[in-house]
Amino acid sequence: MNGKIVIRHAVLQDLEMISELENACFPESEAASEKDLYHRIQVFPENFWIVELGGRIISMINGMVTDIQNLTDEMYENADMHNKNGAWQMLFSVVTHPDFQKNGYAELLMNRVIHDSVKANRKGIVLTCKKKLIGFYKKFGFVNEGISDSVHGNTIWYQMRKTF
Ligand SMILES: CC(C)(COP(=O)(O)OP(=O)(O)OC[C@H]1O[C@@H](n2cnc3c(N)ncnc32)[C@H](O)[C@@H]1OP(=O)(O)O)[C@@H](O)C(=O)NCCC(=O)NCCS
Repeated sequence: MNGKIVIRHAVLQDLEMISELENACFPESEAASEKDLYHRIQVFPENFWIVELGGRIISMINGMVTDIQNLTDEMYENADMHNKNGAWQMLFSVVTHPDFQKNGYAELLMNRVIHDSVKANRKGIVLTCKKKLIGFYKKFGFVNEGISDSVHGNTIWYQMRKTF
């Protein structure tokens, strides 16, 4: 698809496209519901980054900010735990639409998230991922902290942290 690439923060009008993207990238048991995505955009739009290509949202990264050290399952469903002055940028969804993967979009967006988080004086960024993606996040300087307490989607998650 041709068109201009824009990186920006999500707004509520993006909800339908964002929900479609989430569902195209995660199985039903792991995908955030439209309601949860709505609350995330509403509560922490500055921490909800998207890549738009020719008007279509093809990649996104989002997550709350908190002083809590470790990413917990409660955070996925309770956007109100967001503390805009918190130390840690948590990351929930890191996704690129299957039709657009392996073109550098997640890397582009992750570098923007890191840049913005440094600028916001965070201590660092925390995420959980499946074993096969540990190598992907290591490239950005994330360190594997082992198996997380998360039982989200009934699967095994590894917690990774990039400390600034
Ligand atoms: C993981 C995901 C976000 C990567 O998005 P993407 O836009 O294709 O990634 P990029 O093209 O920016 O890749 C950047 C680098 O990571 C590598 N990479 C991409 N996907 C990878 C994977 N699954 N495993 C290992 N490395 C991967 C690329 O080869 C590239 O490396 P290179 O520059 O040395 O070639 C995407 O595959 C996705 O949405 N997957 C489904 C949802 C998911 O599991 N998200 C992660 C939740 S923890």
